[in-house]
Amino acid sequence: MSQNNQTDRKTTHDAEADPRNDEILIYVNGELLPKHEAKVSVYDSGFMLGDGMWEGMRLYDGHWAFFDEHMDRLFNSLKSVSLDIDETPEDIKTILNKTAEANGMTGDAHCRLMITRGPKAKPFQHPSLSKWGPTIVAILEHSKPRETLATKGIRLATVPQVRGLPMSQDAKFNSHSKLNCVIACLQAEQAGADEALMLDPHGFVNTTNACNFFIVRREEVWTSTGDYCMNGVTRQKVIDLCRANGIPVKEKNYSLYEAYGADEAFLTGTFGAQTPVSEIDDKAIGDGQRPITEKIRALYKSLIAEDIAAQKASI
Ligand SMILES: Cc1ncc(COP(=O)(O)O)c(C=O)c1O
Repeated sequence: MSQNNQTDRKTTHDAEADPRNDEILIYVNGELLPKHEAKVSVYDSGFMLGDGMWEGMRLYDGHWAFFDEHMDRLFNSLKSVSLDIDETPEDIKTILNKTAEANGMTGDAHCRLMITRGPKAKPFQHPSLSKWGPTIVAILEHSKPRETLATKGIRLATVPQVRGLPMSQDAKFNSHSKLNCVIACLQAEQAGADEALMLDPHGFVNTTNACNFFIVRREEVWTSTGDYCMNGVTRQKVIDLCRANGIPVKEKNYSLYEAYGADEAFLTGTFGAQTPVSEIDDKAIGDGQRPITEKIRALYKSLIAEDIAAQKASI
């Protein structure tokens, strides 16, 4: 890896340092607690088993971007694993807004909302042992993605760990158990890269350990079929934006051969929107010009503004 050293290392979730994050209040089951007092039980199913679901969302001008889409995914996931909660999506919005208000946040903030099956009566696996659940936690941090991510880009390494078949652990679950992705990330780190490029069970290019993955080839935007990766809200928005703006886009199988030879590549996720990829397995992607990525970034920024304006208008 060309300029590979520890200080150079980045992640797609690098944010500008903000000392206010030491003082934040965190929502834990109805209470707003200072960061260092915000705790859950060691018997919690999320801690013990990774038995919980989460969502990452961004706050813009007092509103959560694409809130309904995030709630659709979250409630679908909760239903799929029979994790019942009394709260409705509107209740969740109230929780997040109260927490944002308590922290004086209206924008440049990121939320990790976590819902687990809750504390267990015994330290064993059976879901019925979670007798006092669920546990609901919302961590809101002041968060501006680091500028250099958008300029320098991220270096990926292809790793042996795959995002697998839906009948093992469906890649669409944003579950607390991220071990599959953590292993991939470790493998990428060992290869000297910032993050992992994961293949699907057939060897086609799939996703990264924390974001969805796109390439641009000969002015076409390609991403995986979506069968083995997170159904990312940002991924879908990028596909929809391409379709609406005359940018050819394909969800298809393709291999590393096509990824290495791409003109541009980028990752998508709520945290960083679209993050350019500079290298894959030590191979530079394109010539460093990223006109289509830039165009999509601008379209996405406008789409967020439209979404926030629509949310304001609907109050
Ligand atoms: C593995 C993985 N892929 C992709 C994403 C991006 O999803 P979204 O665009 O909904 O933030 C996430 C984030 O939750 C993720 O964990």
